Amino acid sequence: MEIEQEIGEEREREMEKSKVLIVGGTGYLGKRLVKASLGQGHETYVLHRPEIGVDIDKVQMLLSFKEQGAHLVSGSFADYQSLVNAVKLVDVVISAISGVHIRSHQILLQLKLVDAIKEAGNVKRFLPSEFGTDPARMADALEPGRVTFDDKMVVRKAIQDAKIPFTFISANCFAGYFLGGLCQPGKILPSRDSVLLLGDGNAKAIYVDEDDIAMYTIKTIDDPRTLNKTVYIRPPKNILSQREVVEIWEKLIGHDLHKSSISKEDFLASIEGQEYAEQVGLIHYYHVCYEGCLANFEIGKDAGEASKLYPEIHYTSVEEYMKRYL
Ligand SMILES: NC(=O)c1ccc[n+]([C@@H]2O[C@H](COP(=O)([O-])OP(=O)(O)OC[C@H]3O[C@@H](n4cnc5c(N)ncnc54)[C@H](OP(=O)(O)O)[C@@H]3O)[C@@H](O)[C@H]2O)c1
Repeated sequence: MEIEQEIGEEREREMEKSKVLIVGGTGYLGKRLVKASLGQGHETYVLHRPEIGVDIDKVQMLLSFKEQGAHLVSGSFADYQSLVNAVKLVDVVISAISGVHIRSHQILLQLKLVDAIKEAGNVKRFLPSEFGTDPARMADALEPGRVTFDDKMVVRKAIQDAKIPFTFISANCFAGYFLGGLCQPGKILPSRDSVLLLGDGNAKAIYVDEDDIAMYTIKTIDDPRTLNKTVYIRPPKNILSQREVVEIWEKLIGHDLHKSSISKEDFLASIEGQEYAEQVGLIHYYHVCYEGCLANFEIGKDAGEASKLYPEIHYTSVEEYMKRYL
């Protein structure tokens, strides 16, 4: 094939790729979405909120995005028209606004974004800030942890009522939170001495490298198979119990950890009296690590699974991920 023809076809492919706006782009997941969007050749816009003021880390990060080819768009949740204007620049909007109480929880702010997308009328796909347990499966979740799922469902309903095309990403456990702490709440570095097992430690959960979450997410945005669907990120090798995660770590460090365990009843009792934000997180651990809520169902025909949809992505295994802590 002639070189000119190859370049022409490459350009054509790039031109077909949607333009993307990332909201919450300086966040823990958001910065990875920006990188993945640029990496997959999308023209990428990142919302720059004036509220960040003199937060030097965020400003520097935004400037580094610009150096990598992203466009910075000024816009604020306090200025509705600025959101409409930002949304009008793109085909796809991805929100990674905060939703972890120990950091910040702003899920319902997205209702303004939904209104802006509806008014702008040009958006072909909206991916709201989800990236965790599928909230549609958590109608029986315990208080106060259920607030995360309830709020995400409120946003889903607004999107569907507004007839905005969507994809919902259920990313299961962020590896940094869950593998880093050997699935123990309140810990994000693996101990070399001991571990507390939640119950018998045998409930299966699913762990995903945050960069892989971003890669899969960007893959979905121009994919007709994922239109108006939930996509679960369920890499088959990473469906493991806490005990299996601990075994992998023990193999890496070359010795066994001392193990104790906490019963379901004692775990639930321990939540009382904690700060609200901690309680929310502990209830999430309860549903994941005692009830096995992430892996105890089959994915239906009306949804997709990312590693099957995109077999070309080499996802990070739990063992590969954990090597970083050695
Ligand atoms: N499955 C899991 O294990 C897991 C773990 C963590 C998070 N999550 C989910 O992933 C999503 C993203 O969470 P994250 O931890 O990446 O979020 P984060 O880093 O805590 O925050 C993301 C962004 O939210 C924006 N934000 C925060 N407060 C705001 C406010 N008052 N007004 C406007 N914007 C505000 C900021 O955007 P700017 O960049 O504009 O400043 C911030 O960078 C959430 O839905 C969360 O529930 C899942």
